[in-house]
Amino acid sequence: MVESKLIYSQLLKKLKSFPDREAKNISLKYMFLKFNITSSDLLLNKKFTWGENQEKSFINDIDQILKKVPVQYVTSSEFFYDSKFYINKNTLIPRPETEELVNNVIKLERSNVKKEILDIGTGCGCIAITISNHIKSNVVGIDSSMEAIKVAKKNNSLTSNKVKFIYSKVEEYKPHKFFDVIISNPPYIPKSDIEKVDDIVLKNEPHDALFVDSDPIYFYKTILSFAQDYLNENGVIYFEINQNYVGLLISMLRGCKYSITKDFYGEQRFLRVTSFTSKTI
Ligand SMILES: C[S@@+](CC[C@H](N)C(=O)[O-])C[C@H]1O[C@@H](n2cnc3c(N)ncnc32)[C@H](O)[C@@H]1O
Repeated sequence: MVESKLIYSQLLKKLKSFPDREAKNISLKYMFLKFNITSSDLLLNKKFTWGENQEKSFINDIDQILKKVPVQYVTSSEFFYDSKFYINKNTLIPRPETEELVNNVIKLERSNVKKEILDIGTGCGCIAITISNHIKSNVVGIDSSMEAIKVAKKNNSLTSNKVKFIYSKVEEYKPHKFFDVIISNPPYIPKSDIEKVDDIVLKNEPHDALFVDSDPIYFYKTILSFAQDYLNENGVIYFEINQNYVGLLISMLRGCKYSITKDFYGEQRFLRVTSFTSKTI
């Protein structure tokens, strides 16, 4: 066993090339993701198991962190909503904004009636699995990346195994049923905006999960067109959006019923569409 404060202070010392605050944030996150040690555990100097294996991977992990690999990829995990998810370099690191998206869906869609729900661009499956654990539902998650689907299936088997994950592009997906709710956090950064993206994101996260070729609202159009065929009459679509292209989305949605809401940082981030016409697309 080892005292958590000892490992935390060793980590801080090794990360002295980072600005103080960043070193502290990375170290706290690492302690939690790797050893399940929370800030309060640290205050109490909780002990945890420490052997040769932990020592070896600790050294290796520090090396990766110093090479500016995000701590989530170093530990192959991220906490999302109320659970830890396995991730790897084929999946985006789930973001706090997406937790807010999921929270909105849970608040508005929870009911006694079982719902059919689809998550488009599921990545590691964090949206689909969390929704399936909080809403009475059958949930399907699709993704165009086979490697992402493997990760989502692994997370499914590590939890309640309730979601059906399918390897498919949205453009080619032809389900045999209708959905009550469609959720998507699609790629929404046009390639022309690449220079605005942080280096750490560019160097580490999958570009297919981040970027869209040239039309920033391509996936919103594609998903609305899909929804025309597969969303139930009173169905609802929830999107995460790029605040820089809200104007384009509003033009696309002329004549539709929708609402756009802000995230925790005050950015327009969530789009909820409750009715649309064929003219929209
Ligand atoms: C922004 S990531 C979202 C991942 C996860 N849902 C989340 O919120 O953290 C977008 C995902 O869409 C997938 N994707 C990209 N193009 C797609 C397409 N044509 N059809 C389905 N999924 C696609 C990517 O592989 C990626 O996993």
